[in-house]
Amino acid sequence: AFELSLRPEWLQQYIGQHSVKENLAIFIQAAKLRNEPLDHVLLYGPPGLGKTTLAAIIAHEMGVQFRSTSGPAIERPGDLAAVLTALEPGDVLFIDEIHRLSRAVEEVLYSAMEDFFIDIVIGKGETARSVRLDLPPFTLVGATTRAGSLSSPLRDRFGVLSRLEFYGTRDLQEIVVRTASVFNMKIDDESAVEIASRSRGTPRIANRLFKRVRDFAQVEGTEEISVALAMKALEMLQVDRLGLDHIDHKLLEGIIHKYKGGPVGIETLSATIGEETHTIEDVYEPYLLQIGFIQRTPRGRVATALAYDHFQLEMPNS
Ligand code: ADE
Repeated sequence: AFELSLRPEWLQQYIGQHSVKENLAIFIQAAKLRNEPLDHVLLYGPPGLGKTTLAAIIAHEMGVQFRSTSGPAIERPGDLAAVLTALEPGDVLFIDEIHRLSRAVEEVLYSAMEDFFIDIVIGKGETARSVRLDLPPFTLVGATTRAGSLSSPLRDRFGVLSRLEFYGTRDLQEIVVRTASVFNMKIDDESAVEIASRSRGTPRIANRLFKRVRDFAQVEGTEEISVALAMKALEMLQVDRLGLDHIDHKLLEGIIHKYKGGPVGIETLSATIGEETHTIEDVYEPYLLQIGFIQRTPRGRVATALAYDHFQLEMPNS
C-alpha cells in the first residue's frame, strides 16, 4: 500500500509533463462527455518517467478498470485473446514494452484496436477454422522506450501519441517532497534539490535516491533529512553531482580514453564496457544526449567538450 500511494492517482496530482497532461485532460473529458472509451494512447520515452503511472491515472480518471500486461508476457495470439476477452466495456488495457510483441500477436491486435473483434484460429491442419470473437470496446494504452521500433500499422492505430520528456529539477524537487510526505519524513528544500538534481531527470531515480537517503536518516534515528545527511548518503551511493553513476562513467570514459573521444560505434562501445547495446541506447544514452555530453553521428558516438569538462580533462585538438 505504501508503494501504491507513491504513485499519484489523478492527473491533478501528477507532477510535470505539462503538455502531455493538458492534452490528456481534454481527451479524457471529451470521451467522458460522449460516453465513449478513450482512443488508444501510446506513451513513449525513456524508462522511469511515469508511463505506467500515467496509464493507471487514465483508467482512474475514466472510472474504469486498469488491466496491465507487457509485450514479452504475451507470447502467442492465444495469450492476447485471453487478455482481451476478459476485458469489460471501457477498460484500460496497458501493454508495457509494446515494441516487444511478436508479429503474430501484433496482427491480432490490429482488428482488436480498430473494430473490437479478433479472428482466432482453432484447431490444426485440416480441421483448423477461424472464429470471430467480439470484444467490448476498450482503450489500449501502450508504453515503449522506442517508438521507432513499432511497426507503422501498429503505431497508426493509436489516436493519441504522447512523448514523455525528462523532468526539470523543480518538478523532481516537488516529487521528492511529495514522496517524503508519503513516508512521513521531513525534508527541507535544499535537501530535496540535492536529490532532485542528481536524479537524471527521472522520477524513478529520484524516488530511489530518496529511499536510500531515508535509510541513512533511519539509522541516525531522525525523521528529518538535512543537506549534510543527504550529501553523505549520495556520496556513499556513488552518484556524482549530475547524478551520473558508475555505468555512465564507464561509458563516457570508454569513449574518451579508449577511442580518443570518438566516434565509436555502439557495438564496439557495448563490447568495451560490457553493457548490452539496447541498455545503452534505451537507458543510458538518452540522458547523456539530453545534457549534451555525447552526440550521435553517422560514424558513432562522440564525447563533447561538456563531458571532458565534467571529468576535468583536456579535450584533444581535433
Ligand atoms: N511519482 C513518480 N512520478 C511522478 C509524477 N510525475 N508526479 C507525481 N508523483 C510521481
